[in-house]
Amino acid sequence: MKIKNICCIGAGYVGGPTMAVIAKQCPQIIITVVDINPERINAWNDKNLENLPVFEPSLAEIVNKTRGENLFFSTDIERAIDEAEMIFISVNTPTKTYGKGKGMAADLKYIELCARQIAKVAKQDKIIVEKSTLPVRTAEALKSILDNTGNGVNFQILSNPEFLAEGTAVQDLLNPDRVLIGGDVGSNDGNEAIDALVDIYANWVPKERILTTKVWSSELSKLTANAFLAQRVSSINSISELCEKTGADVNEVAKAIGMDSRIGPKFLNASVGFGGSCFQKDILNLVYIAKSYGLNEVADYWEQVILINEHQKNRFSNKIVSTLYNTVSGKKITFLGWAFKKDTNDTRESAAIKVANNLLNEQALISVYDPKVTEERIYADLDYLNSRSEEENRALLKVDNNPYEVCENAHAIAVLTEWDEFKTYNWQQIYDDMQKPAFIFDGRGILDMEYLKTIGFECYTIGKG
Ligand code: UDX
Ligand code: UDX
Ligand code: ADP
Repeated sequence: MKIKNICCIGAGYVGGPTMAVIAKQCPQIIITVVDINPERINAWNDKNLENLPVFEPSLAEIVNKTRGENLFFSTDIERAIDEAEMIFISVNTPTKTYGKGKGMAADLKYIELCARQIAKVAKQDKIIVEKSTLPVRTAEALKSILDNTGNGVNFQILSNPEFLAEGTAVQDLLNPDRVLIGGDVGSNDGNEAIDALVDIYANWVPKERILTTKVWSSELSKLTANAFLAQRVSSINSISELCEKTGADVNEVAKAIGMDSRIGPKFLNASVGFGGSCFQKDILNLVYIAKSYGLNEVADYWEQVILINEHQKNRFSNKIVSTLYNTVSGKKITFLGWAFKKDTNDTRESAAIKVANNLLNEQALISVYDPKVTEERIYADLDYLNSRSEEENRALLKVDNNPYEVCENAHAIAVLTEWDEFKTYNWQQIYDDMQKPAFIFDGRGILDMEYLKTIGFECYTIGKG
């Protein structure tokens, strides 16, 4: 079966870049990305490419080339479902904030809404592809909803987890380590659906990198991959605290262990803590699933990865307070960076949010500069915590779009995101305009501290004793 029309439900950080790249690599396929949020769709259709809702290196060029050719963004969800032979579901699956599994389980209400809408509209057989991160056995639930509420057409469900990392999404999509497709390998219809999706990726991905598995293996692989990656970050972060106490240097330790080919050199950067929409959510999900099967030791093991991450964020804000003579009340502290990593405008679960909240509890005055994150987003992140009123948040925290102005008169600078431009600043000028002693806390280990010390800064870097 050759796919000619694809619909993708959900025009976010996953759906947008993924469909743009498929459109670029498969000019013969028409792709319509739909969303319930009309502002998002308008932003994807904006003539000014600066206004796209997702910032990713090279994404705007690809959208510019494909939009209106074979890539379309629309709010007409029913029509797009009707016309497509294959439907990707890339809606958000946040952690539940209510009821059973609150704070742990994935909230599947958006997924279920999609399934019901597809069932209602579909008049021909469809292949449904799960693209969101989902708990194991979601495909089964999807199938049940589709079969029981549909018009008697045949649905095949595939799990095709996304492994792209934000900030490198386009590169990761163009040149993936692997593409994973889970399906009903036991049946002819299942294999036909799997082959249809394999054929799409085979337009640019070598066949040996396209893995096909049972649905449940595919779903669980996604959670496991993110849990292992997050575990590496928590592992090195836990060692960073020990380095500070013992006088070791976490970068030297990371380099030394990373040269063991069984460990490998990547993903060993100590930091102020991991963020992003996936790591915490997926681990909480894994913990919840393990608990629900009574596997308490397994659940506790993985939960510790999250606890170390919380500890790392708190440790950073505590270090700022204790270094500034145990009080930051009324003192200006500048944040360089708010995004959860460089080269993205996404702030979900960013360490900056927690660190800011801790310092605001100590009555600090925070000023933030981030090259890509908007003021509205920053206030929305803080307001979401419900720690204080919206007015208080706006009175205590300011957002500035000039990196030099934002540092003026500050008692301390804290680096929360590893944006490359921070390394290129005129640090002498920044020092001259700060309160003295001028403190700098590098939560990402990106600045040249030896140089900054010669200027006169008092320096702290995570993991250096
Ligand atoms: C992650 C997975 O990498 C990706 O495969 C999956 O599809 C989605 O989740 P993402 O969250 O976009 O991607 O970014 P990632 O590069 O994994 O970084 C996550 C967090 O870990 C960031 O806050 C980053 O700063 C932090 N991190 C990463 C570290 O602190 N140290 C490291 O060595 C690596
Ligand atoms: C280990 C370290 O590998 C080595 O670098 C260090 O100098 C001494 O400790 P060793 O204990 O001899 O070496 O063997 P290793 O191959 O690491 O295996 C340790 C245990 O882990 C064995 O029981 C092995 O069966 C088990 N193992 C290893 C697994 O169960 N699964 C694996 O994937 C790898
Ligand atoms: P991700 O990082 O998983 O892509 P985002 O939050 O960036 O998450 O994107 C998910 C998108 O899915 C949002 O734009 C949201 O409006 C959209 N969405 C959620 N539920 C539905 C639905 N039932 N129909 C269409 N779009 C939906």
